[in-house]
Amino acid sequence: VRQPLIVPSVLPADFARIGKEVRELCEAGVDRIQWDVMDGVFVPNLTFGPDVIAAARPHSSVGFEAHLMVVNPDELLPRYADAGCDLIIVHAEACTHLHRTLHRIRELGARSGVAVNPHTGPEVVQHVLEETDLILAMTVNPGFGGQAYIAAVEPKIARLRRMIEEAGLDIELEVDGGITEHTIHGAAAAGADVFISGSWMYAYPEGKAAAVARLRAAAA
Ligand code: DX5
Repeated sequence: VRQPLIVPSVLPADFARIGKEVRELCEAGVDRIQWDVMDGVFVPNLTFGPDVIAAARPHSSVGFEAHLMVVNPDELLPRYADAGCDLIIVHAEACTHLHRTLHRIRELGARSGVAVNPHTGPEVVQHVLEETDLILAMTVNPGFGGQAYIAAVEPKIARLRRMIEEAGLDIELEVDGGITEHTIHGAAAAGADVFISGSWMYAYPEGKAAAVARLRAAAA
């Protein structure tokens, strides 16, 4: 069984000092850092793009993943690869040609990820598993941090885990949204092995390193 990976979202970070924030996350022992890219169309919020990610890249000793909550992700894929994202996640709901988009991400030298919103069934990834390095099961409706974990997604997480095992492929199964020391166990038990945390990690009273350790222990 894989070791759980703990990946913070920088959404709650102080964007006025993003380089220092990234260094602090690396010092806290995170496995990767997730950049929640929002275009104000796919989701009702707007965050940052490839230039901000590129500016932060030299400050990080861990990999970057871009979670593209955007319509038409194809147009800017090269920019995220150039910005230093080793993993680029697109939403199945935003891709008319998902198979081609995932293939293009790999052609750019990054690993490919596909995200599904709470309402989207697991079958949408059935025919692209060979093109996918990571599946992200959203456990909130995307757009904002600090929302409540949607436990009703857990049966879908379990189904996705079975699909991955039946395919015999090495695909990471990631969850994002409302992950805390209290909700991570249910997501892990359902079959997730990569955990995104934003607001809970940033608010943890003993600091980020303790939060990372707490999540690792609760996910095991
Ligand atoms: C939603 C974002 C958030 C973020 C994590 O669009 O993707 O899920 O990464 O936020 P928390 O951990 O605060 O739910």
